Amino acid sequence: MKLALYPGSFDPITYGHLDVLRRAMRLFDRTVVAVVENPRKTPLFSARQRRLLVSQALKEEGIQDVQVVSYSGLLVECARQLGAVAVVRGLRATSDFDYEFQLALTNRDMDSDVESVFLMTAGRYSFLSSSIVKEIARYGGDVSRFVPACVAKALERKFRERRRA
Ligand code: PNS
Repeated sequence: MKLALYPGSFDPITYGHLDVLRRAMRLFDRTVVAVVENPRKTPLFSARQRRLLVSQALKEEGIQDVQVVSYSGLLVECARQLGAVAVVRGLRATSDFDYEFQLALTNRDMDSDVESVFLMTAGRYSFLSSSIVKEIARYGGDVSRFVPACVAKALERKFRERRRA
């Protein structure tokens, strides 16, 4: 049974992430979404909120049999604990490559049993990132084309709270 890990900050999850997840599900027997608890940048949503939004988004999109976990340590340790043979990452454009290249080779150096697999997201999401979605939502823009409704609602609530603060 080939299990793939799909790690990320998912702050928040977008249709671009869900597109990559569906592609991974066609390649591997099982795919596990792993939400990192302490991402490089300060997240808008807590680890619990990000993990909950991933689960809600999967349900809203009718995606079944995908386990959602969170991890606070190294990605390779999470992969090893789950018995993953691959780490799946989405590539949007060449701008992603340098960062992913460094991640992949460093992870391989730490554990050569875990292979990084890169999947191209659909063209219609190639410009999409969680950061740009948050930027649009921050200014009250419509993000319904980019994220599931549960995520759009969470963004609207989060920025309404911030405006009141
Ligand atoms: O969605 P992101 O922020 O691009 O995901 C990056 C992520 C979470 C995959 C990466 O930052 C990560 O796995 N962090 C956990 C610590 C770790 O293993 N770092 C990689 C060392 S090469």
